[in-house]
Amino acid sequence: MEELRGKCVVLGVTGGIAAYKMADTAHLLVKMGAEVHVVMTENAARFITPLTFETLTNRRCVVDTFARDFQYDVAHVSLAKAADLILIAPATANVIAKLAHGIADDMLTTVVLAARCKKLAAPAMNTAMLENPVTQDNIAALERYGFEVIAPADGLLACGDVGKGKLPPPEDLADRVLRHLAREKTLEGVRVTVTAGPTQEALDPVRFLSNHSSGKMGYAVAREAMLRGAEETLISGPAALVPPSGVQVERVVSAKEMFEAVQRAFPTTDILIKAAAVADYRPAAVAGDKLKKHTGDMSIALERTDDILAWAGQNRHPGQFICGFSMETRDLLENSRKKLENKKADMIAANDLRTAGAGFGVDTNAITILTPEGTEALPLMSKAEAAARLLDEIERRRLCS
Ligand code: CTP
Repeated sequence: MEELRGKCVVLGVTGGIAAYKMADTAHLLVKMGAEVHVVMTENAARFITPLTFETLTNRRCVVDTFARDFQYDVAHVSLAKAADLILIAPATANVIAKLAHGIADDMLTTVVLAARCKKLAAPAMNTAMLENPVTQDNIAALERYGFEVIAPADGLLACGDVGKGKLPPPEDLADRVLRHLAREKTLEGVRVTVTAGPTQEALDPVRFLSNHSSGKMGYAVAREAMLRGAEETLISGPAALVPPSGVQVERVVSAKEMFEAVQRAFPTTDILIKAAAVADYRPAAVAGDKLKKHTGDMSIALERTDDILAWAGQNRHPGQFICGFSMETRDLLENSRKKLENKKADMIAANDLRTAGAGFGVDTNAITILTPEGTEALPLMSKAEAAARLLDEIERRRLCS
């Protein structure tokens, strides 16, 4: 999807080793349809060449303020005016300090000072430099001046230290840009809680009962809600997926933990979307030590878990919207309508595991949206598109109620 068509993004690349990651970020933004202009500091150009960015963006990459063959007149002002958003990444301590004090002594800092658009900065540096109070003060100053500061990630840094200071992955940076430019902010100020993925119910320290849910559908819903500006919590069971950036993530393992997390979030939730595949049963006892095999068969006593969606339906406040999911292998509509009624939900997104392309782990789904008023079967589409259709319908129904 060319979600950034018609948008002008200026990437400000400064002189940290993470500058090399910006090639991928630039490429991602170009693929999303954005007009990408890269402005580099001279130090950044020591880590990665302007030619790399020029090839990826098909545009001149500017380093020197006084370059004469640039396509704009009074280049820094024209570029600043053309930009819908500026992302400075990686932002070194030095450039952060300059920006925090209005110093404009090269093309990048001049463009940023001249721009009125949204500005994002992704600090990336050695942990000690980042934690130095002067850097922290400068970051706080940037925030005061309206910059959105993207928190650095933890991990192994190029200097060999392990700690905070890594530039987040290109997908995260692109998501931050998308969050500002890609959609109408129809969920601005709306608090959305999404549950996703499977739960795991321990049997002993080694084994658990679970299901095949990958979390892809729930994560797609979480991403779409984030792009629409929601204030969002994603409560995720174990899933091998990267959560959308800018979303508060709570990781849980068992149905009990998911229930507790939903109970905490629900009172301040406007829209609850329960895409998680929650276990209905858990082992009645969890062995403290690994269970050893014996001759003959074995059976496991199971007890019911709480039905989280049903709890939410019983404990809802006026104005809250609750959407459940339903996966079936037969009698999809009949079984899903029972869930809608029994769990007092406003909507159920149902899918039949036997429909080609609508099963576990794939990137597509064919959902049928059930509400007390009717049923709408959507064709097979990507999970991202299905998430958008689902949220369109939820927004429409909230407006009507
Ligand atoms: N759900 C829940 N808590 C549970 C079980 C399910 O909140 N303990 C929610 C799921 O997140 C989903 C909806 O209920 O939104 C329907 O889940 P599904 O597994 O399809 O149906 P169940 O209600 O578990 O019924 P059954 O397993 O008998 O089909």
